[in-house]
Amino acid sequence: MSYKLIETNLDEVTGVASIVLNRPEQRNALSSELMTELSEAIEHFEGLPVVGCIVISGKGGKAFAGGADIKEMAGRTYSQNYKDNFITANWERVAQCRKPTIAAVSGYALGGGCELAMMCDIIVAGENAKFGQPEINLALLPGAGGTQRLTRFIGKSTAMDMCLTGRMLTAAEALSLGLVSRVVPTDELMDLALDMAKTIASKSRMTAMMVKEAVNTAYETSLSQGVLFERRAFHSVFATGDAKEGMTAFTENRPPRWDNK
Ligand code: CAA
Repeated sequence: MSYKLIETNLDEVTGVASIVLNRPEQRNALSSELMTELSEAIEHFEGLPVVGCIVISGKGGKAFAGGADIKEMAGRTYSQNYKDNFITANWERVAQCRKPTIAAVSGYALGGGCELAMMCDIIVAGENAKFGQPEINLALLPGAGGTQRLTRFIGKSTAMDMCLTGRMLTAAEALSLGLVSRVVPTDELMDLALDMAKTIASKSRMTAMMVKEAVNTAYETSLSQGVLFERRAFHSVFATGDAKEGMTAFTENRPPRWDNK
């Protein structure tokens, strides 16, 4: 498939797919056209059995994404937003992807850029990363889940601080707050992200999807409902050939062979 505003790549040997937001001169601002391409690419990779993990990054190093495209948004009206279900319609496709996703953040992840990163399952960052929800400076508020996901991920006080003052978090702060899982020197970021993706893609694809579903359930339900969901998923994983293979391979002291086709 060919795109204008993103670049995609698939390593069929490792099962790692990558998507690069490609508007560096506009700090990878997330225009409707770019988001349409991104959701199409996610749809495409999700449907390919060979894909085990998807990495999303931003071209140019200065920004993962500077947010929704402000120049495009400036002319929008309330009724257009309502009729188009603006933001949610396209954007949530990333959060809905059933395969594991990693956001590799170098530079700014602001507004919709931070929200896009948070729609991924794991965020890894270069030391130069900066996370923020500066919509307040435009007299807007986050519109792609920022007030909700950020609050769940890093707690109310810091989420309020970021959304009300517009202040940015450094990579080190984001790490200490649990927003990102790892921070590395910026020039090592893509190697790290691709390596993590390769590790994830080397696991049983089906079980990885079940793990993702179970962890995400922690954000959607009560603890007791989440624990029940996990128990049911744990019960049902025994019906898969991969779980049988994993346990048999362990007892036979050999590497497992997953049914990843
Ligand atoms: N939308 C449209 N254009 C953007 C943009 C955005 N979100 N972010 C950057 N750009 C454009 C700039 O307008 C500029 O374009 P021109 O060269 O044509 O003038 C170009 O990218 C380079 O920008 P800067 O010169 O400002 O680059 P910088 O490296 O000095 O700063 C930045 C980068 C900190 C990201 C800064 O551009 C900035 O503050 N951008 C806006 C951030 C923002 O407010 N994001 C929230 C958007 S609203 C939103 O996302 C709503 C939502 O919840 C979905």
